[in-house]
Amino acid sequence: MSHNHPIIADLNWRYATKKFNPELKISAENIEIIKESLRLTPSSFGLQPLKFLFIETPELREKLKEKAFHQTQIIDASHLIVLCVNKKIDYNYVDQHIENTATTRGHEVSSLLGFSNHVKNFIDNRDAEIISTWNSNQAYIALGQLLHTCANLRIDATPMEGFDPDAFDEILDLRKDNLQSVLVCPIGYRAEDDKYGQLKKVRKSLEDLFETR
Ligand SMILES: Cc1cc2nc3c(=O)[nH]c(=O)nc-3n(C[C@H](O)[C@H](O)[C@H](O)COP(=O)(O)O)c2cc1C
Repeated sequence: MSHNHPIIADLNWRYATKKFNPELKISAENIEIIKESLRLTPSSFGLQPLKFLFIETPELREKLKEKAFHQTQIIDASHLIVLCVNKKIDYNYVDQHIENTATTRGHEVSSLLGFSNHVKNFIDNRDAEIISTWNSNQAYIALGQLLHTCANLRIDATPMEGFDPDAFDEILDLRKDNLQSVLVCPIGYRAEDDKYGQLKKVRKSLEDLFETR
């Protein structure tokens, strides 16, 4: 039965963890896998307008918790990831991506001119707000990939929108680097007494969710 597939087992195992065991830390090896998974996240045109901040400093974590409705996962989880986007996607940014593509694949930059113009044209035709939403959407793809990677490693995670992004940007001094926080994801190991870990998953039925036309 498809429900016995390891992917489905991963997805049933995970839940949005409310309480972490602060004593349990993720191994360096697993952190490497998680970073590589985030690096491999697909993005529109491959631009990866993303930066993933791992926040280790306890004082910073304490300050961030204050601006995240005091959610204790921010300080108790083994690792805290803040998913950020680049605010400035300009010609220079696109040129860097083109150069990376050329170097990686052994092409001449000139052979990628059509693609480069296409991306620049896409950017030119959209105002800053649309570009900002577009960038944020890329962060959500990374979050989805992160959640499944963690579940496969049997590492708990909490996807979080419940925080004040402006305050996070201030505390982490992100503006000087043209970065903006979009999502937060504490990762680690669940506390045994986190009652949310025992709850049945609430999901729509297949009939409600799918339709064939
Ligand atoms: C984008 C996003 C933001 C979320 N923000 C929070 C949050 O700030 N705090 C929290 O405890 N849970 C948060 N959640 C968890 C959801 O409430 C949870 O994923 C949903 O109820 C489904 O339950 P499950 O993930 O345990 O299966 C968020 C989930 C997503 C996908």
